[in-house]
Amino acid sequence: MKSGLEDVVAAETVLSDVDGKNGRLIVRGVSLDDLVTSSRYEDVLELLFDGFFPMRGSVQPALGAARQEVFAHVAQTDPALVALPPVEGMRALLARLDDGDDLAAALRLVAAPSVFTTALLRLKAGLSPIAPDAGLPHAADVLRMMTGTMPSMQQVSALDRYLVTVADHGLNASTFAARVVASTQAGLTSSVLAALSALKGPLHGGAPGPVLDMLDAAATPANAPAWLESALANGERLMGFGHRVYRVRDPRADALKGAVRVLAGSGAIDPARLALAEAVEAAALDLLKRKKPDRPLDTNVEFYTALLLEALGFSREAFTCVFAMGRVGGWIAHAREQALDGRLIRPMSVYVGPMPQVAA
Ligand code: ACO
Repeated sequence: MKSGLEDVVAAETVLSDVDGKNGRLIVRGVSLDDLVTSSRYEDVLELLFDGFFPMRGSVQPALGAARQEVFAHVAQTDPALVALPPVEGMRALLARLDDGDDLAAALRLVAAPSVFTTALLRLKAGLSPIAPDAGLPHAADVLRMMTGTMPSMQQVSALDRYLVTVADHGLNASTFAARVVASTQAGLTSSVLAALSALKGPLHGGAPGPVLDMLDAAATPANAPAWLESALANGERLMGFGHRVYRVRDPRADALKGAVRVLAGSGAIDPARLALAEAVEAAALDLLKRKKPDRPLDTNVEFYTALLLEALGFSREAFTCVFAMGRVGGWIAHAREQALDGRLIRPMSVYVGPMPQVAA
């Protein structure tokens, strides 16, 4: 029995393939390298949803309209909800959406993390939420709703690259949670809520905030090796390293490192910050190799996510919400695939507790 279900195949999917030995990710027949060079988030949605919903033409106008539709729920945000961590506030708002299973319901769910997160971040800062502009591409509107100003082309393409990179990734914990709920025919909102709850944990989508905490604590490139060594000696995990499936470098790390370098080139990232991150990464890889020689541990998607989202102006407590803005497309496609073709997911457990006393 493997309590983490590693090596257990629990679904057949046409959506994505994670090749952990060779460090490759394929989404519906397209390699991540190709996907990130030419795609916007809307293109990946069309790719993921094809065959699961009746797709007619570009998804961009319908997604813009869905952003406007879900924005109506922002008016019902109360102070207690604003006081919650952003991922919990966003989850509470998302729970108010209908549990449908058609394309309109799917697009409302895709829009929801973006619209609710940006509104909550503004409310937390004492600012008024900004209504969506249905005519804008999704990534541009997300940044505009957050800051109130039109983002630069570099910022939009960096966010698009992030959303595309994380849109789907095999049977990860949150996607599995979505499929389990979908297998009961509960509907898309229920599936996405389950997935979001799984994503929140620091071993999954909660890692990039702590990556920045780690950079802050390491403070300087020279101090990085000693700080990391003592963190590891204290039994801590180095955030942004290691993966259940990859035994080599996570290909998404390089896709995002490329975007981080472009942002640094445009002045959006302080060169000293990038140098610190690169020094921490090099020191961590060296240390993990020495201390865990039997377990290949390499950089995962979360390490450069942290730098990219920080440069785009997201606060670290909102990083998991931004992950959800991208991964929601994958969750929905997997939920539909499971609901349409799959059976109720109901594994077995082995009872290891006490047996009833037998009377003498
Ligand atoms: N730092 C230090 N040691 C680690 C790390 C790490 N980041 N990751 C794994 N290890 C060690 C474990 O301590 C364990 O050592 P041991 O055998 O001496 O006890 C060994 O490597 C195997 O670890 P497992 O927990 O069995 O590996 P698993 O496949 O369950 O872990 C996980 C994968 C959870 C991602 C892990 O590598 C980790 O905790 N990483 C840090 C958090 C992180 O970056 N999460 C984001 C992952 S990407 C994503 O979900 C989007």
